[in-house]
Amino acid sequence: MKLPSLPVIKTLIPGPHSKKMASDLRRYECPQITYIDKDFPVFWESADLCSIQDVDGNIYLDLTAAFGVANCGHNNPVINRAAKKQMDKLTHGMGDVHPTPLKIDLARELARITPGNLSLSIFSSSGSEAVDTALKTAFMATGKPGIISFEGAYHGLTLGALNATAWEMFRKPFAPLLPSIHHILPFPDCSPVGRQLTEDQQCERILANTRQTVKKQAKTSQPIGSIMIEPVQGRGGSRIPVKGFLKGLRDIADEYELLLIFDEVYTGFGRTGNWFACEEEKVIPDLLCIGKGMSNGFPISACIGKRKVMDQWGPSQGEAIHTSTFLGHPVGCAMGLATIKEMEKKNIPTQSRENGSYFLNLLNSTLRKYDFVGNIRGRGMMIGLELINPGSLNVPATETAIQIVKKSLKKGLILLASGEYSNILCLTPPLVITRKQIDFSVTVLNEIFTEISKGRTQ
Ligand SMILES: Cc1ncc(COP(=O)(O)O)c(C=O)c1O
Repeated sequence: MKLPSLPVIKTLIPGPHSKKMASDLRRYECPQITYIDKDFPVFWESADLCSIQDVDGNIYLDLTAAFGVANCGHNNPVINRAAKKQMDKLTHGMGDVHPTPLKIDLARELARITPGNLSLSIFSSSGSEAVDTALKTAFMATGKPGIISFEGAYHGLTLGALNATAWEMFRKPFAPLLPSIHHILPFPDCSPVGRQLTEDQQCERILANTRQTVKKQAKTSQPIGSIMIEPVQGRGGSRIPVKGFLKGLRDIADEYELLLIFDEVYTGFGRTGNWFACEEEKVIPDLLCIGKGMSNGFPISACIGKRKVMDQWGPSQGEAIHTSTFLGHPVGCAMGLATIKEMEKKNIPTQSRENGSYFLNLLNSTLRKYDFVGNIRGRGMMIGLELINPGSLNVPATETAIQIVKKSLKKGLILLASGEYSNILCLTPPLVITRKQIDFSVTVLNEIFTEISKGRTQ
């Protein structure tokens, strides 16, 4: 269904239907799951590329791509056609027993589009599962259980992935279930507010720290088997590591015979202006995790590895020791194949790079003037706008971010706050967002920032 490309708000937000649904949901869903208050949420009814229509007929511009999934635009007609065609033929296969030809086709395509000699896939349904798979593979290949990840890292919330996720709010409630195999090291952010060290010093210091941790753990019963990192942190707030850091990790992994895992669940499929974020510095991991944008909307994910690493699993003896019911789902594979075709045909990673840089520059030139705006950074269509408390830089500006997210919704922009303290506005729209939509978004944000600024001075 074609929708207007710019917001049209017809009711109070949330509208009456959304409000009624929120109270119905409250009765039937565990209260921890969907956040509900007087301003949130709106219930989605339909979508068209970057536009979302809610159940009250309001139209919004989506600046999140719904958690970085709809890279080719919501309801992309080419990808949806592929899904419908497949649904008419076969909606479910027997993943690791009697698979469909689509599993071969997609695995072959993944081997082709991923960098270096990453060539063997294990499919799954969510990003967290792809991360679980990578952690299991690393253990299989090295026999070493320890994991290093970095502050701000978000690798998912299944028990396996939670081992590598750094956020205390997610780990703390389940701490007794998490083995002490995980080491969280500082993340060398290339653009922090109030930086003390130069980029090179920061890079060197954290690499030395990593090396030290590996050496220290080697003498224990829990030596390090893998280093896991997002080449650009997603939920951590679009944080880019200093140049040379990924290469430094590659060297450490080679030197100590451990595996380097890149979690590109968020950054993969064009989000940062390359097919994969690791291409920027030409560093190839041993294992690569993907999900989200891989099929533009179907829950499918994968861990792709070098042959010599994946071969450590050995052949299936009739009962695969790692699998799942929906592994290599035919509709997901059909959508994944159509997504790759669509991205290549329209050169979507390049659009992401060029329009992302336009977006970033416009945000910088328009919003820098506000004293509560810290750093505005990003790569491609993964942009983070950090909010600060001008009087007390150490206190995260969570409240300001929430205020902006709510005000934006009322004006027709769907936005999310990210970062461990929810103080960073995360702009990750569908990669096909137009310049007109970008201009509109920045104009609306400027209006909201002016309102907030006036509110502070009154
Ligand atoms: C980098 C990264 N890894 C893993 C995950 C987990 O993916 P999922 O929510 O599909 O389990 C996410 C989700 O946001 C992510 O951003």
